Amino acid sequence: MAAILDPTPDSLAKVARHLADGGIAALPTETVYGLAADATNPSAVARIFAAKRRPSTNPLIVHLADPEDVLRWTTPVDDLWQRLAEAFWPGPLTLVLPKRGGIPDSVTAGLPTLAVRVPDSPLTRQIIRLAGCPVAAPSANPSGYISPTLAAHVAESLGSEVPYIIDGGPCRRGIESTIVDLARPGNVEILRRGPISAQAIAEALGRGNIADRRIRASEDEAQRAPGLFSAHYQPGTPLFLWEQEPPTPAPAHLPLALLHFRRPVGAGESGSGQHWLSDSGDPEEAARNLYHMLRQLDQGQYRAIYAQTAPECPLGLSINDRLLRAAHGLAGEGPPAAESTPH
Ligand code: TXA
Ligand code: MG
Repeated sequence: MAAILDPTPDSLAKVARHLADGGIAALPTETVYGLAADATNPSAVARIFAAKRRPSTNPLIVHLADPEDVLRWTTPVDDLWQRLAEAFWPGPLTLVLPKRGGIPDSVTAGLPTLAVRVPDSPLTRQIIRLAGCPVAAPSANPSGYISPTLAAHVAESLGSEVPYIIDGGPCRRGIESTIVDLARPGNVEILRRGPISAQAIAEALGRGNIADRRIRASEDEAQRAPGLFSAHYQPGTPLFLWEQEPPTPAPAHLPLALLHFRRPVGAGESGSGQHWLSDSGDPEEAARNLYHMLRQLDQGQYRAIYAQTAPECPLGLSINDRLLRAAHGLAGEGPPAAESTPH
């Protein structure tokens, strides 16, 4: 079983040595906990894929202690990366750049590009420095399940796979980094929505707007085939989405969980089937609570979860991206009513 370690100087040194020796460990970041290994060591990287049961076609993000290290592992095509690094690093932004030597193909799933980020966790940057290697780290969850935002989440779902988890407390941002593709000269494209908005990126680059590959894809999909969003971050309990009005579900054999974006007027304590992501409707608070809430509801004896989508502010769009991938469909296409439930 995994040991959950307080971030003392001794445990940081111990975990750094373990990584330098080719082991894996879970580390905190400001977004979600990552499952870390030496990115230059193919057998260490293989341990990440095995522990998560991650398909070898899904490339990893490499975490660096300092922005300058980007030039050691990638060959940027222009200076856009520097402008984004100055504006957002350390922080929840991942840059995809042409790969240089020294990183095995398994990290990038054979792509000629490498995804890099400098996380805003002094603990984890210290471990990376002490380990003396770049650190590959996908989110520390079994492939396809909900990402972890607490050390306890990692222990619950990967505890038998990972020897050490550094406890950095709850992740401040709560959803994975924004991924921006800078691999072609002058071209800036968002591959994954996250805490840093397209507008903030456009502003930092002095541009009008930024192409968003993901948004086009998921909006198209949402309209064409609501039940077929690309599955990711999924709870085991079927999850359905609603926008303005909560559905009035049919009586059911097992109760249904209703997840509001904001605490409903007049609601008592969270519980007994009614839950919310934020007391005040603050998107930052909602993002921070999202994965913990989905994990909790998934562990409750619910027949289905009905989650409200976030308002369409920049961070709300990133939350909705995660909800769409977690969803099995829209409310109204929910599970069969109680009558058909076997007793
Ligand atoms: O916030 C985060 O980014 C967290 C923390 C731990 O840093 N990490 C994370 O990793 O979310 P993961 O493995 O769950 O997501 C990594 C994603 C891949 O699924 C892929 O979509 C994208 O990063 N990616 C990695 N390398 C890429 C590349 N060379 N080109 C395009 N996309 C890439
Ligand atoms: Mg992940």
